[in-house]
Amino acid sequence: MRRPTVVGNWKMNASLEDTAALVSGLTSGWTGVHQAEVAVCPPYVYLAKVAELLEESNIAFGAQDVSEHESGAYTGQISADMLLDLGCKYAIVGHSERREYQGESSELVAAKFEAAIKKGLVPILCVGETLEEREQERTFDVVGQQLRAVIDRVGLEGVAKGVIAYEPVWAIGTGRSATPEMAQEVHAYIREVMGPEGEHTAILYGGSVKPDSAAALFAQQDIDGALVGGASLKAEDFLAICRAAE
Ligand code: 13P
Repeated sequence: MRRPTVVGNWKMNASLEDTAALVSGLTSGWTGVHQAEVAVCPPYVYLAKVAELLEESNIAFGAQDVSEHESGAYTGQISADMLLDLGCKYAIVGHSERREYQGESSELVAAKFEAAIKKGLVPILCVGETLEEREQERTFDVVGQQLRAVIDRVGLEGVAKGVIAYEPVWAIGTGRSATPEMAQEVHAYIREVMGPEGEHTAILYGGSVKPDSAAALFAQQDIDGALVGGASLKAEDFLAICRAAE
């Protein structure tokens, strides 16, 4: 019922030349029909190029953020309509790096989520606790609050139009992935909060997912795929993770 989904978040990496090489590695390795949905989220400035390179492929793409505004005097921001114009299917919202470095609040993230679904762009909502919060046994509180801010704004049916990514902050870029059991516990909690809508909402895990750790994560009942950072920058590694999701 829920399609396995693997999304690469390239963050602020790669040059235009690297991008072309990476996409070519992906398109040559991911041909034919697959059970898993695969997408990449390059930096904004490479989206048009990636759109062109992925045109004949079965790989989708998206942005790493989206404005909460529809249009107007918002220097430096990119709207949902602009992303759709380029053929984007997804936009990541509320990544912990944006919450931390750009000071994005859960309310702002909820507004971005709403701006995306209003236009038919699929938001990938990131939630997750810091190490300190986990040690204080506040994981469910923190994840629950981040999720409820979006539910309060768009309702459970609204959230179900997007994808949820559980990304524990302490596992991002550290090489220290959550164990499959740790991740499953939080995924099950998210699904419970989502109620009946949770049955058809994809919940991805993110945080140091590598080819050798992917299969065990995906074997968990409530883990529907992955949001991959570092390993999505190497075509072979990313494709190995995609194959593990099938
Ligand atoms: P890493 O896979 O590099 O830990 O990054 C995860 C992430 O932040 C994806 O959004």
